[in-house]
Amino acid sequence: MPRVLVVDDETGVRESLRMLLKSDCDVVTADSADAGLRALAEMPPDLVLLDLVMPGRSGLEFLAELGERGDAPPVIVLTATKTVATAVEAMKLGAADYVTKPFEVEALRIKIRHLLEHRALAREVVRLTDELEGRDRLGDLHGRTEAMREVFRTIERVARAPATVLIRGESGTGKELVARAVHDLSPRASGPFVAVNCAAIPDTLMESELFGHERGAFTDARDRRIGKFEAAGSGTLFLDEIGELPSSAQAKLLRALQERVIERVGGENPIEVDVRILAATNRDLEAAVREGRFREDLYYRVNVVPIDLPPLRERRADVPLLAERHLTRCREEMGAGPARFTRQALNALLRHDWPGNVRELENAVQRAVALCDGDVVDVGDLPEAIASADRTEVLHADVRTGRVDYEAAVSRFEQQLLREALDRCEWNQTRTAEALGLTRRMLKIKMDKLGLTKPD
Ligand SMILES: Nc1ncnc2c1ncn2[C@@H]1O[C@H](COP(=O)(O)OP(=O)(O)OP(=O)(O)O)[C@@H](O)[C@H]1O
Ligand SMILES: [Mg+2]
Repeated sequence: MPRVLVVDDETGVRESLRMLLKSDCDVVTADSADAGLRALAEMPPDLVLLDLVMPGRSGLEFLAELGERGDAPPVIVLTATKTVATAVEAMKLGAADYVTKPFEVEALRIKIRHLLEHRALAREVVRLTDELEGRDRLGDLHGRTEAMREVFRTIERVARAPATVLIRGESGTGKELVARAVHDLSPRASGPFVAVNCAAIPDTLMESELFGHERGAFTDARDRRIGKFEAAGSGTLFLDEIGELPSSAQAKLLRALQERVIERVGGENPIEVDVRILAATNRDLEAAVREGRFREDLYYRVNVVPIDLPPLRERRADVPLLAERHLTRCREEMGAGPARFTRQALNALLRHDWPGNVRELENAVQRAVALCDGDVVDVGDLPEAIASADRTEVLHADVRTGRVDYEAAVSRFEQQLLREALDRCEWNQTRTAEALGLTRRMLKIKMDKLGLTKPD
């Protein structure tokens, strides 16, 4: 169901709209512009119904912020008859339509339906075009699953706008590549792209790293130095692992984002900065907020548009494409090497869970290329953890289809298990027994029974 966000300070209006729409839409309500912006960050709606006159930030201010996002949902403005002039103002700021209060239920319903249909159609057209064109990359990002194509489309939409983007995803899913793609597709592409890894800089140096320092600001500050904010001027600043930012730096970052000014450590004068912020995290930032480790106000400032990168195991169909692309790259770099994978090798790659995501896949391919001396990469060239998952799977299938009987399958499995453990421990029986939780005597008996001897 489409999601509709209702922003109105009057409970009566919110509730009557909820009743009116709940059979066709998921309705989320907010009682102020600020609450509305937070709701937007948590889950982007397909349509917004917006009151213009509210205490605190007005509907017009809400609209102006929304317009910066690049991926803004259409907005229908709710206005009292007397303030039609304001409604016109709102349309100039990008509102799609307006209705006057008290509104006519049927007319409102039709407007909502039209806007939702239009938005759904527009997206469908883009999606179908991607599919028809067989789109499988954006910048250095590769992928042809619908999940990745959706990421590509979001990147393209948000790149044009100045909004802050929060890139979320497990380690190795391509967060840094996404940040670069956003920069490269943005109007700031000719400006610098400056990345800061917030997890790699000691707390004590973080502020000076971000904001710079004046000469003599602290013991080691022999010279004045500009920080990353200034270095990224007119370009993009990428704050990687933003969840690791120490709390004093969080406060200063919030101020920089709100007021667009910074102060060098030990400096007296505020300096205006013009940077676009992209941030990334592989942690649950919401949890960090709940636990008090990350400021809530900063979280909402940073998470204006979220981009969620799916882990590789949730888009396995991209594995062959990524593996082959990396194989080609390794081959080009080395000037020789295998040109393709055997079917078994690809199967093993497809079945693996990839806890380290694309980075792990690239490492596995690289290793295979180094080990393989033929023209094709086979299962045996892959890291053990990946290859063995495949062998166990084959064994399962053999038992299911009756090709191997139960006893034989169990001893083959035992054989695999023991051989892998022995390989890992360089055939040292004492260490192998320990690793498997067996006595050395038991290991020896099993090795004899299964005919396992050290290969030479
Ligand atoms: N969709 C993709 N297409 C091609 N290469 C990718 C893709 N996603 C990731 N990679 C590659 O995987 C590696 C890891 O990507 P990246 O450094 O962007 O991940 P990350 O999410 O920032 O990881 P971390 O959280 O560990 O910093 C890089 O070598 C990158 O080129
Ligand atoms: Mg990274």
